[in-house]
This record gives sequence, structure tokens and C-alpha cells, in this order.
Amino acid sequence: MVVGKPYLTVEQIQTKNLQLAGRISNDYEGKDLLAVGILKGAFMFFSDIVRLIRVPLVIDFMIASSYMKFDTSGEVKMHYDIMEDVSNKDVLLIEDIVDTGITLNYIRERLLMKGPRSLKICTLLDKKERRQVDVSIDYIGFEIPNEFVVGYGLDYDNKFRNLPYISIFKKTV
Ligand code: IMP
Ligand code: MG
Repeated sequence: MVVGKPYLTVEQIQTKNLQLAGRISNDYEGKDLLAVGILKGAFMFFSDIVRLIRVPLVIDFMIASSYMKFDTSGEVKMHYDIMEDVSNKDVLLIEDIVDTGITLNYIRERLLMKGPRSLKICTLLDKKERRQVDVSIDYIGFEIPNEFVVGYGLDYDNKFRNLPYISIFKKTV
């Protein structure tokens, strides 16, 4: 199994993060932003983007999993839920990638039950072709084809998360 050369370089990711953070900063002016990172995958994107957002915010995390190596198990497990009170908060969920949409849909519904003032979603990557559940996403970094990617937080079997760029992961024969 090999990890190829960058599919999205450090520079491309940084440029995109700046653009997304600019839009988010404008949209959340005068609001009460609670940025929620979905771990583990979003840890790098989350830490980069919150540093670029220019409005006050508080952070929290959720840990959810549905993936078994290459494919989703279809069942979402919640390992850690947010600690912050979301009433009077404008919640922005920050994800690494939306694939089938099953994970995000589950997280979104769970959060909505807590009654936030608003709820929006930001994802770095969107693998639209694979969508099974329709979730509307407010901020999308890159739309990518149906390829398995690793790096910049994304993993295969919990590995390659530390790559600073995003690469297409190929299984060799
Ligand atoms: P979904 O529930 O199918 O949308 O899956 C979302 C989760 O699956 C993401 O948050 C990732 O953790 C993982 N995932 C989906 N596609 C990939 C990929 O290409 N590489 C690594 N992880 C992925
Ligand atoms: Mg994830």
C-alpha cells in the first residue's frame, strides 16, 4: 500500500483555509460562535481554521466514528459529546470530510436536539458522489472525486493523519 504525492498541497490547503475563515468571520460578526471540531479527522483543519477566524469564539469537540478502514460501517458511534451549553450559541460544526453523510447527519440531529440558536456546517472536503444522506453544507473547501484520501488529519486505519498535505491512498496489488 502506498501513499502518493500530494493531491492537495500545504499551500492549496492554506489558501482555502484563509478563504473559508474569511467567509466565516464575516458571517459570524456579532454572533456567539461555538466552533465544534469533529475528531479525530478534523483536528488539523480545526486548529488551522480557528486560528484564521477573526471573530471571538469558543471551542469544543465531539468524537464520533463510523469508519472501518476503507468503508463506513453505517453505524455511528459517539465517543465524546460537547461540554458547552449550546443555547444562545451559533454552532459551527467543523468536519474533515463528508462522504456518505451518515456521520454528519447523526451529529447534526443530535446537536439540534440541544437547541442551539443556529447550526451550520463547514467541511474541508466533500466527496459528493458517495452521498447517501442529504445534508446541507454551508462551507465547503474542496469537492473531491470518489478516491480514498489520507493526510492532514485523515487516516487509513488511524495512520497518516500527520501528513501535512492530502494524498490519494492506493492499495497496491
Ligand atoms: P460519512 O459518514 O460516510 O460521511 O463519513 C465521514 C467520515 O468518514 C469522515 O469524517 C472521515 O473520518 C471518514 N472518511 C470518509 N472518507 C474518507 C477518506 O477518503 N479518507 C479518510 N477518511 C474518510
Ligand atoms: Mg471525521
